[in-house]
Amino acid sequence: MPDLTGQVVLVTGAARRIGRGIALRLAQEGARVAVHYLDSEADARRTAEECGGELFRANLESVTEITRLFAAVEQRLGGLYGLVNNAARFTGFDPLEITEKDWDFIHSVNLKAVFFCCQQGARLMQKSGGGRIVNLSSLGGIRPWARHAHYCSSKAGVIMLTRALAKAFAPDITVNSVAPGVIPFPDIDDAGQKMIAATPARRGGTPAEVADAVLYFLKASNFVTGQLLAVDGGLSQR
Ligand SMILES: NC(=O)c1ccc[n+]([C@@H]2O[C@H](COP(=O)([O-])OP(=O)(O)OC[C@H]3O[C@@H](n4cnc5c(N)ncnc54)[C@H](OP(=O)(O)O)[C@@H]3O)[C@@H](O)[C@H]2O)c1
Repeated sequence: MPDLTGQVVLVTGAARRIGRGIALRLAQEGARVAVHYLDSEADARRTAEECGGELFRANLESVTEITRLFAAVEQRLGGLYGLVNNAARFTGFDPLEITEKDWDFIHSVNLKAVFFCCQQGARLMQKSGGGRIVNLSSLGGIRPWARHAHYCSSKAGVIMLTRALAKAFAPDITVNSVAPGVIPFPDIDDAGQKMIAATPARRGGTPAEVADAVLYFLKASNFVTGQLLAVDGGLSQR
C-alpha cells in the first residue's frame, strides 16, 4: 500500500470528535495534515498542535470560501494528495413540519459542500498526478430514519456522488465513502442509545475505528474506487 509519509491530507471539520480522530491517525502515519474548522477554533488549534498540522478556517456553505480554502492549502502546503470530507450537520424534524431553511441547513454542508470540495480537491490533485478522496456518509444514507428524511437524503446523495465521481475522476483519483453507524459522544440521545442496543456488535463505535477505514481508502491502490464501507457494528445488516 502507498505510504502517506509527507503526503498532504485535508480533513474537513477536524477540530473535534470523528474528524479529530481521523486527523490524529493520519499524523501517526506521517501525513501532513491540513486541519479545517469553522467555529471550534480552540479545539482545532489543539488538534493541529497534536498532529503537527496546519489550520484552515472556512464556512463550507459558501463555494467562494471552499475555493479559497483549497487555494490556501495549495499555497501553504504545496499541493494535495488526500481529501477527507468529514464536516457535516445533523438535525431531526418531522418531515411534515420541515422548512426550506431546515432543508438547506443540512444539504448546503452535507451534500453541496462535499461536491464542491471534491471538485476543488480533484483539480488540485490532478496537478500532481492524482490522489485519494474519502467522503463520510452515514448509516442514515443506507437506512431510512423517519425524523431525519432530510439528513438521510443528503447522506444517500453523498454515497451516489462518491460512485459518480469515482467514474469521473478515474484512473488517477479514487473516491470512496465510509458510513459510520453510531459513534457515541456525551450528547448522545435516547434514539442513539436504542440504536446501540440494536447493534449486533452490542456497542457504539469509536473515532479510531472510523479513522482506520478512512486510512484504508487513502492508502489503497486505484483499483479500489466508488466503494462504500459501513463501520457500524453490523447495524446496516439488520
Ligand atoms: N457521530 C456519529 O454517530 C455519526 C454517525 C454517522 C455518520 N457520521 C458522520 O461522520 C462525520 C463526523 O461526525 P461527527 O459526529 O464527528 O460530526 P460533527 O461533530 O457533527 O461535525 C463535524 C464538524 O463539521 C463542521 N461543520 C459543520 N458545519 C460546517 C460549515 N458550515 N462549515 C465548515 N464546517 C462545518 C463543524 O466544525 P466546527 O466545530 O469547527 O464549526 C463540526 O465540528 C460526519 O460526516 C457525520 O455525518 C457521524
